[in-house]
Amino acid sequence: MSVPVLTIDGPSGAGKGTVSRRVAKQLGWHYLDSGSIYRSLAVAVQKQAIDMNDAAAIARVAESMVLEFDCGAELVVRLNGVDITAEIPLESTGKIASIVASMPEVRSRLLQKQRDFKKSPGLVADGRDMGTVVFPDAETKVYLTASARERASRRYKQLIEKGIDANLSQITLEIEERDRRDMERESAPLAMASDAVYIDSSAMTIESVIEEILNLIR
Ligand code: C5P
Repeated sequence: MSVPVLTIDGPSGAGKGTVSRRVAKQLGWHYLDSGSIYRSLAVAVQKQAIDMNDAAAIARVAESMVLEFDCGAELVVRLNGVDITAEIPLESTGKIASIVASMPEVRSRLLQKQRDFKKSPGLVADGRDMGTVVFPDAETKVYLTASARERASRRYKQLIEKGIDANLSQITLEIEERDRRDMERESAPLAMASDAVYIDSSAMTIESVIEEILNLIR
């Protein structure tokens, strides 16, 4: 029997992470946070001081890096055996992640690493191109979005709760810049799959978004 996949794509700060994690937990399915793969690559590239213009070198790092994800109460990420969890949520990491993510040779090297997450009894995959490129045959696809203003304010609260210093207007600008880069890039741009269900969460609670998605699966 084929393994069911639910893809949840959308721009940063739309609530994909929280929603996907909780839907996966309720279904008892595995969870792929594909953004953290690009973020881990960003950390690796910074640690190795790779030239950001050298796409071939960045692609080699993408291919050789060994990632381990512990999806307990809090996600723990190890890069080549070293715990890099604290560096994953930083805005500086997200910015570099979106730059390396615009390189086609990098994306192709990460395809299989993402597909390996598809295991019985099912997978919830969260990202930008889960329904369009990585899992085009997924049974259920969601495109989850919210206004840029609402997304910035959510990201701000998340960072403050984690004790990370943040500035709301700066985050709004960065979110708009990241949206632009993610939507305008040539390789696997952020776009809604033609067979995805569109959900705008701006005025919705997390619980109602989760309920709507679980209803699609049922
Ligand atoms: O979702 P998150 O903010 O963690 O993703 C960081 C960056 O990684 C995004 O801005 C995007 O450029 C890139 N990304 C991607 N494709 C995915 C997931 C993330 O290009 N499937």
